[in-house]
Amino acid sequence: MQIDLRILRFDPERDEKQHWERYSVESQPMDRVLDLLHRVKWENDARLTFRRSCAHGVCGSDAMMINGRNRLACKIRVDQLGRKISVAPLPGLPVIKDLVVDMDGFFDKYRSVMPFLVAEDTPPDDAERLQTQAERERYDDTTKCILCGACTSSCPSFWAQDSYVGPAAIVNAHRFIFDSRDDAAGERLEILADKDGVWRCRTIFNCVDACPRGINITRAILEVSSAAVERRR
Ligand code: SF4
Ligand code: F3S
Ligand code: FES
Repeated sequence: MQIDLRILRFDPERDEKQHWERYSVESQPMDRVLDLLHRVKWENDARLTFRRSCAHGVCGSDAMMINGRNRLACKIRVDQLGRKISVAPLPGLPVIKDLVVDMDGFFDKYRSVMPFLVAEDTPPDDAERLQTQAERERYDDTTKCILCGACTSSCPSFWAQDSYVGPAAIVNAHRFIFDSRDDAAGERLEILADKDGVWRCRTIFNCVDACPRGINITRAILEVSSAAVERRR
């Protein structure tokens, strides 16, 4: 089957602004959008620029806007989209070239919430830090994040105020705040109680629709904001 593929292109060395380019691409129903992008790059225009690494939904590098919704190009298939497919860079982030956006601000926010284990105690040399199954289950959902940025870039609160820390950073804070082995929940909650922290979420749910890992992001945000309120009591 032939796919009518439109790609929002921008080359800072040639273009003043973004523009759509159209390609007719031979495809099978089970091809992924990433396969179509490769075909265009190999057969039509080698300058087409996009990020990808694992090609199997693990590395998080090929999130983009596909038919108006943030998706991973290596996960979404032609049979889920139809014969007309549009591909644009993630919204709300500066475009570097074609489908590549600047993720520096996104990762600065991720780092700002201390996304690592802080444990004051030192376990004996031959021991692990033990945890019950229930304690591990408490933050299981938020361990699944692959930092693709699809959630933060789909959030209208982030579009309106790009200083908002965003759902991805909150998800990664949640992963440690509710880890029974961690001792820095208070510090993280203090950071997220800032005006650009959890309060900017208006429960719009775009982030949940965008997440390729099926994380219940809104629930995680509500759990973090409840913990922040509890801490201030
Ligand atoms: Fe991507 Fe989901 Fe992580 Fe957001 S929470 S960065 S959408 S994997
Ligand atoms: Fe944005 Fe998701 Fe909250 S879309 S407003 S972070 S529920
Ligand atoms: Fe790694 Fe798609 S290329 S998630």
